[in-house]
Amino acid sequence: MANARGRLMIEGAAATALARRFGTPLYVYSQAALRGRWEALRQAFQAPGFLLCYAIKANSNPAICRLLARWGTGAEVVSGGELLLALHSGFKPSQIVFSGVGKTREEMRAGLRAGILTFNVESEEELALLSRTAKALGRRAPVSIRVNPAIAVASHPHIATARAGSKFGVSPREALRLALKAAKSPGLRFLGLHGHLGSQIFAAAPYERESRLLISLSRELKARGVAITIADFGGGFGAEEPGRREFPLDRVSSVLRRAARAFPGLTTIIEPGRYLTAEAGTLLTTLLYRKTVLGRRLLIVDAGMNDFLRPALYGARHEIIPANPRPGPRTPADVVGPVCESTDVFGRGRRLPPVKPGDVLAVLNAGAYGFSMGSNYNSRPRPAEVLVDGRDIRLIRPREALSELLDWRRCKSP
Ligand SMILES: Cc1ncc(COP(=O)(O)O)c(C=O)c1O
Repeated sequence: MANARGRLMIEGAAATALARRFGTPLYVYSQAALRGRWEALRQAFQAPGFLLCYAIKANSNPAICRLLARWGTGAEVVSGGELLLALHSGFKPSQIVFSGVGKTREEMRAGLRAGILTFNVESEEELALLSRTAKALGRRAPVSIRVNPAIAVASHPHIATARAGSKFGVSPREALRLALKAAKSPGLRFLGLHGHLGSQIFAAAPYERESRLLISLSRELKARGVAITIADFGGGFGAEEPGRREFPLDRVSSVLRRAARAFPGLTTIIEPGRYLTAEAGTLLTTLLYRKTVLGRRLLIVDAGMNDFLRPALYGARHEIIPANPRPGPRTPADVVGPVCESTDVFGRGRRLPPVKPGDVLAVLNAGAYGFSMGSNYNSRPRPAEVLVDGRDIRLIRPREALSELLDWRRCKSP
C-alpha cells in the first residue's frame, strides 16, 4: 500500500491526492483488493454446489455490489431495501437469500415476486405469515429455517449472533419442529437450514461445531421423511485487525466441504460480508486540531463516529497511519472525531509520527460496516466514496450535500 517514499498509495492513486481532489472524510476502495478477496473465496470453495452469497449490509455501495454481481456472486439481504439494491445491482434472484428476524409482509411479497432462492425464517409466526402471503399470491414460498446453534465465538458480544440470549434464529429443537411444519404446509416449499455464528471469527472450530449440528439436524429430518437441499453456514469470516491472526480460510473451507459431502446434491451457502470488503476500504480523514487535555494528547480529525461507527459500537481496532508520514519520533495520541459523544474515538494511545493540522490520516480496513453503518448524527452529511482500479479513479457516491440533509420541505412545521 505504501510507495518507496512511505506515502500511502491506493493502487495507482496517492491518498493525499485523493483527499485533495474529493475532500475528506472520504472512503476509498481498491478494486484489486476486492477482487483478491473474492478470488481467495472462489478458490477455497471451488466445489460443486457451493454458492457464495455476499452479505450486502457490509458495504452497500451500488458500484461495489455491481462488481460482485458481475463476478457471479449471490447475495444475502436483510431488508426490502437491500433486496431492491441487490436486484438493481444485477444479482440473480435465484442466488439471493433473505435473512432477518423481522421481515414484513411487504418485504415477503417483494421477495416472492422477485423469485429469490430462499427466505431464512426465524420464528413460527414469521413462517405462518410467509405461508399466508405466498398463498395470497398463488405461490409457494421457498423456506430455510435459521437455527441458533448456541455456539460461543471469541468476538465482541455485539457481533456474536449465535449465543444463548441472542435474538437470532430458533433453538435446534424448534428448528426441527418448524422444518417439519414447513414441509407439510401448502404455502411453503421447505429447502433447508441456515446458521450464522457472528462476525470477526478467526477459528475453524465454531464452523466445525455448526456443521456437526446442521448435519445431525438434517439426519433427524431425513429419518422423518424430509430432505434438505440447502445448508447455509452464514458469514463471519474474520478480516484483518491489529493483533489478530489471519482467518483460516483453508481449514474452514475443508470443514464445510466435508459437511457438504454428507449430502449429495446439496447447495451449500456461505454469506461472508466483511471478509470480502473490509480490507479493500480506507477511510481518509484530515487532522483538524491537536491539544492536550489533562495529560492526554488528542488529535481531532474531521471524520466522526457517524461516518465510521465500528470503534465506538464494538470497540473495533483499526490501524491509523498518516498518509504522508513526516520524519520524527512517534508519540502516543488519541485519535478522536468531532461528534459530541465521548465514544467518538477511533483509537487510543496510537503511536504516530509527528502530524500537523491539515495532514491526512488513513483508517485502514474500513471497507466493511463503514459507510453502510453511517448516519447523519450531529446533522453531519455523509462522506463521499471513491473506487480505484489501477490508475482509474471513479467517484461512486458523491458527498451528501447539506441541502439534501436539511430538506425542510419534507419536515412539516407543527
Ligand atoms: C445472517 C447473516 N449472514 C451474514 C452476515 C455477514 O457477516 P460478516 O460480515 O461478518 O461475514 C451477517 C452479519 O450480520 C448476518 O447477519
